[in-house]
Amino acid sequence: MFKKKILIGLKKQLNKELESSLLYLSMASWVEYKYGNLEGIYNFLYDHSEEEKKHMLKLIKYLNKRGAYADIVYQFNLKKSWNTLKELFQKLYKHEQKISDEINLLVDLSLKEKDFFTYNFLQWYVEEQIEEEGLSKMILDKINFLENDKGGLYLFDYDLKNFHKKNKL
Ligand code: FEO
Repeated sequence: MFKKKILIGLKKQLNKELESSLLYLSMASWVEYKYGNLEGIYNFLYDHSEEEKKHMLKLIKYLNKRGAYADIVYQFNLKKSWNTLKELFQKLYKHEQKISDEINLLVDLSLKEKDFFTYNFLQWYVEEQIEEEGLSKMILDKINFLENDKGGLYLFDYDLKNFHKKNKL
């Protein structure tokens, strides 16, 4: 049985993960449409959308297993276009930072409410956010470094394709 604040927090997070999945999906589709030759970048974004869906499913299973119905509340306005690739990755990095803040708040709440099951469950998300934030920052740094270098962008796309194969994202 969850305490009310914990239940609200976990359900909110579940919807944040759904939002993340749709945001990555929206970005992937935009990059594919605008830059059809940057296969590494858009496939990275498509696959990451699936990753975010797994984050959401993990929360659904945890809530249902502990007797709380994990209902899906779709309540966000999804951004559908960006001016540049740089802007897209800036937004993505900010989004991941926001998700990290939310996970930290939830961990803090689980300690305050003495819900050690939830505290333990959330440790996976803490680890995951270190990677997710680091990855989006690494991509943004590279995009910033390349600026308008089209040749460099092509190589970066190739790098991302291989990175993505190696890490099976
Ligand atoms: Fe599930 Fe990218 O945070």
